[in-house]
Amino acid sequence: MADRVRIIDACKNFGKVVALKNANLSVKPGEVVLVIGPSGSGKSTMLRCINRLEPLSSGQIWVDEDQVSDHASDIRKIREEVGMVFQSFNLFPHLSALQNISLAPRIVKKASGREATEIGKSLLARVGLSEKEDSYPEQLSGGQQQRVAIARALAMNPKVMLFDEPTSALDPEMIKEVLDVMVELARDGMTMLVVPTRWDSPAPPPTRSFSWTTARSSRGVLPRRCSPRPEKSAPSAF
Ligand SMILES: Nc1ncnc2c1ncn2[C@@H]1O[C@H](COP(=O)(O)OP(=O)(O)O)[C@@H](O)[C@H]1O
Ligand SMILES: [Mg+2]
Repeated sequence: MADRVRIIDACKNFGKVVALKNANLSVKPGEVVLVIGPSGSGKSTMLRCINRLEPLSSGQIWVDEDQVSDHASDIRKIREEVGMVFQSFNLFPHLSALQNISLAPRIVKKASGREATEIGKSLLARVGLSEKEDSYPEQLSGGQQQRVAIARALAMNPKVMLFDEPTSALDPEMIKEVLDVMVELARDGMTMLVVPTRWDSPAPPPTRSFSWTTARSSRGVLPRRCSPRPEKSAPSAF
């Protein structure tokens, strides 16, 4: 089966800081890959390069047949193909839950107002928040905000979803409601790259764990702490 995501010798520097050095990773369609590595090892940078929030310094990243690292490739298409969920939710504070979700379909996909609203309502139902469509982010709990953020990313019908420490800002009692949504997504066959906060943080059952330290150079800065988890072992769902 062809790879859904392929990272080939990816390098990213911020001035003198080497965030990624010759990172390589391939993800098949439907895989749920946990990317585990120490703080500062470039996990967030890698996710941000996949949807080109950051350009690579060198190397390539492919999503199916599209080279997303190519400056000439259509940034709009990349944002449609790659959904991203951050630890800090990043919802628009002045928009309701429904408006947050339906904004991108309207602007990027050129859906009509009615179509975009329908997409938004069905996704709110999918994350169990139908009754919150008119609520603004400040009126929602952290767990609810993160579920809206997931729904917002799904509204573009992405080929892959990236999760950067999606439960790290949540109180313990809210973690399960977000994980339930992620587990459901995985069951539906979504390709997912998940960076958990710690190697033993709650995460959806992965098809594979990837020790990110192996992607880094031997410059001596890393690893600060190696994951004791061997490849392929899976943390429990909750
Ligand atoms: N926008 C940026 N500007 C400068 N340095 C950055 C930026 N983003 C990340 N870095 C640096 O790149 C390295 C990797 O960071 P990051 O990708 O956030 O690691 P992780 O997510 O694994 O903790 C760190 O040294 C960090 O300070
Ligand atoms: Mg990070």
